[in-house]
Amino acid sequence: MKVLLADYSGFCFGVTKAIDTAFEEVKRNKDKANYSLGPLIHNPQVVKSLEDEGVKIVEDLENIHEGNVIIRSHGVPEKIYKIAEDKQLNIIDTTCPFVRRIQKIVKEYYDKDYQIAIIGNPHHPEVVGINGWCYDRAIIIQEPSDIDKIDGNQKLCVVVQTTMSLKVYKELIQLLKAKVKDIEVFDTICHATRHRQDAAKSLASKVDAMVIIGGNNSSNTQKLVTVCKEVIPDSTFHIESVDELDIDVLKQYEVVGVTAGASTPIWVINEVIEKLKKIN
Ligand code: F3S
Repeated sequence: MKVLLADYSGFCFGVTKAIDTAFEEVKRNKDKANYSLGPLIHNPQVVKSLEDEGVKIVEDLENIHEGNVIIRSHGVPEKIYKIAEDKQLNIIDTTCPFVRRIQKIVKEYYDKDYQIAIIGNPHHPEVVGINGWCYDRAIIIQEPSDIDKIDGNQKLCVVVQTTMSLKVYKELIQLLKAKVKDIEVFDTICHATRHRQDAAKSLASKVDAMVIIGGNNSSNTQKLVTVCKEVIPDSTFHIESVDELDIDVLKQYEVVGVTAGASTPIWVINEVIEKLKKIN
């Protein structure tokens, strides 16, 4: 079997930075209690190594009274910083600079009396975090019907979840522009995501099957699956790790493409490639 790896597979700049910062700071502060507000990234192996260093994953700061708290690359609502400050907790902030930029835009425009719209998944931590920079007053737009909630006569600021698909974003922006005259649009889709999706799509058109590696709850991995399915719907396969490769199904293909979400370490990608190469 011939195996081709898509460009821009695996860790993005933001995730690499988050992991490096978290491990460095935790090692430096071994004598203190270390917590992570939610799992650092959508990758069980990386989360486990951090736990092995003594980091406890917590859902909120309610029962935390001392030590360090890691804020993950998805970012958190503004109030979390205030709570941590009041409790004199030390924040290890690994919010991706691209997400930080969105938080700042939302805060600035909310203060200027704009309605805020976030194109994205209302349950994704990044979107929940961004919404927390305008007192949770943003209107989250996931599908065209959500646009009914926007007041067309008021000025509107629109931002986008970094991992949003470009196609869906463009469709929704067109509808928003038709409804609202006074509109400021910030295309905040992350370039890493865009490049990864474009490269995956282009590879999918050249191979018999695509294998996409990444966490089940990783939004950018799901988007990779969607763009590849648009090209080869019956031969796009999503796995979390090498153990999930279905050799019996894959052995019918001659050329297989591989790509991976932003939270997938290189060693996980290599394991999959090696196993695929051994087929036939
Ligand atoms: Fe940041 Fe983009 Fe990665 S927003 S965390 S560099 S996917």
